[in-house]
Amino acid sequence: MRFMVTRLRHQVTLGVAVGFAVISTLFGLLILNVIGQSTEATAAERLKLAQTTAASIDASISHALAQLVEFAGLEAVRQATSGRARADALDQAYRLLGTYDEVAVLDARGRQVWAHPASGRAAASLRNQPVVRTALDSGAPSVALVELAAVEHPPVVAVAVPLASGGGPAGVVLGTIHFAHGWRAPLVPLPPGSATFATAVVDGRGRILVTTSAQQAMDGPGQAEPVTVDPHAPIIRTMFETQRPGVGAHGEGAEEHLVAFAPLGRLPIGVVVEERQDLALAVPNRLRRMLLLFGLVALIATSVAAWLHARYVTRPLEHLAQAMRRIPAGALDEPVLVSRRDEIGAVARSFETMRVQLARAMTERDRWERELEARVRERTDEVRRLLAKIIDAQEGERHRLARELHDDTAQTVATLLMHLAALRGMLPPGQEAIAGVLDRMSAQGVRALGEIRRVIADLRPTALDDLGLIPALREFAEARLATASVDLSFQVRGEPRRLHRPVEAALFRILQEAVSNVAKHAAARIGTVEIEFAPTRLVATVRDDGRGFEVCPGPDRPRGGVGLEGMRERADLIHARLEIASRPGAGTSIRVEIPYEE
Ligand SMILES: Nc1ncnc2c1ncn2[C@@H]1O[C@H](COP(=O)(O)OP(=O)(O)OP(=O)(O)O)[C@@H](O)[C@H]1O
Ligand SMILES: [Mg+2]
Repeated sequence: MRFMVTRLRHQVTLGVAVGFAVISTLFGLLILNVIGQSTEATAAERLKLAQTTAASIDASISHALAQLVEFAGLEAVRQATSGRARADALDQAYRLLGTYDEVAVLDARGRQVWAHPASGRAAASLRNQPVVRTALDSGAPSVALVELAAVEHPPVVAVAVPLASGGGPAGVVLGTIHFAHGWRAPLVPLPPGSATFATAVVDGRGRILVTTSAQQAMDGPGQAEPVTVDPHAPIIRTMFETQRPGVGAHGEGAEEHLVAFAPLGRLPIGVVVEERQDLALAVPNRLRRMLLLFGLVALIATSVAAWLHARYVTRPLEHLAQAMRRIPAGALDEPVLVSRRDEIGAVARSFETMRVQLARAMTERDRWERELEARVRERTDEVRRLLAKIIDAQEGERHRLARELHDDTAQTVATLLMHLAALRGMLPPGQEAIAGVLDRMSAQGVRALGEIRRVIADLRPTALDDLGLIPALREFAEARLATASVDLSFQVRGEPRRLHRPVEAALFRILQEAVSNVAKHAAARIGTVEIEFAPTRLVATVRDDGRGFEVCPGPDRPRGGVGLEGMRERADLIHARLEIASRPGAGTSIRVEIPYEE
């Protein structure tokens, strides 16, 4: 699934965060580079110290050699080889030599002639000591590191200078120097108790000849020093083999040390500078810690700043989006907040202008709509008034016709019948032919009178005025359906109540037309009239099981009659709901629903 940041606020925050990450990565790399350089500089500095110390010791050895050569050239020393030592002169001359711990004059066979301080080695020949032998054989001064095998002491520096007399060497002046006594000075002095930094002179096996470490420094000159092996001997031995200066790290955890090594030129020993790595690299390490801390603080600060900035930028946009969502919902009253002067503010301002114009247009439209509705209502009321007038006129005309039929035509026919009956009575016997004509005339008159009365009843059902809708409708339906041989089912539900006169009259006409249509068109077996007085409205239904017809919705009149159309108009006039449901072959149902008027 592809990850997508959809919210603008998150996008801005992410952008700032990525930018910061890139900058801080570059910055971090730069700092790491500086830290690396600083570490290298620290190592180089320690190496320099080791090299300087080594050079200084080399110079000290050369100086000691020169001293001994000078000593060997003294008259008193040369005479000492001739057999009779002049101890006083030698002792006096010895004072010239400050560096040496011991000085001895040996004859050509290596036997000690004189020594200071006096030692018990007088009888032993030192001819086989390599340093002595080299000096005697080559006739040149020789310097070497010598193990004093008898005791477990660190090796000492031995210097042998041949004594020249005539042809070959007449003997050797042999001087020894204990590093711990004579050459502590070239080593960098440290404040007492500094246990984390040490400069030492070590041999190829890593044994310490002299050291500035706190433990060794406590020992005074001339005291026996046990041989100690440098704790970093493994790395020192490796560097010793190459005979090249170098720096390395050795040890674990807090005991990890930075070890710098520089070999001496004259002797197979070297100078080691050791320092606890965490202290030697304190500055780069502190820098690294600070970088981490700074990076962390900067990350948090930038994240918070990015978030706040994103909020500042996107908040007005969110408000704008909310306002835009409100518009389609039709809420145009709430103004759009314009809180900024930048581009977002400009958009908000334009949008606010748009909202105001839209709200104005909508108000105008509503006003027009109301006006239009009022006009339509007015027109409709006018049409209704006209229709009511027409129906009133119709009803009035029907009344007038009914009255005339009743008062004039029916009376005339009745009078005619009376006269016919009188004429029939006046006929002399034997006038059967005339009597027959008069009887047929009377029968036709009676039929005509019946027809006139039916028309009068159709035009103005007296029962409606006198008794109300239900009896008038029942009377009409019974009479009308009987003429078409349709059985009537007449049902009334609920508590009958009287409606307003015009409403009742209109409803009667609607149902009268429906029943008439059943009689005229349906060819039905049963015609059903149902009147239900529901609590809030009256529902009247005229149903038949006849042939049915195709109902055309709207005002189109099916097949030319005006009955159905009249029904619709009347229903409309009294605010009734009219439903005409019919299908060819499936009967017809006419339903009228009128809410009671208060
Ligand atoms: N109950 C019904 N069953 C079958 N057809 C019907 C029924 N009622 C109406 N019709 C059909 O609908 C037509 C239109 O009826 P409408 O009452 O408007 O006119 P009419 O009865 O023919 O004439 P008028 O009512 O004007 O005397 C009728 O001609 C008839 O074909
Ligand atoms: Mg009709």
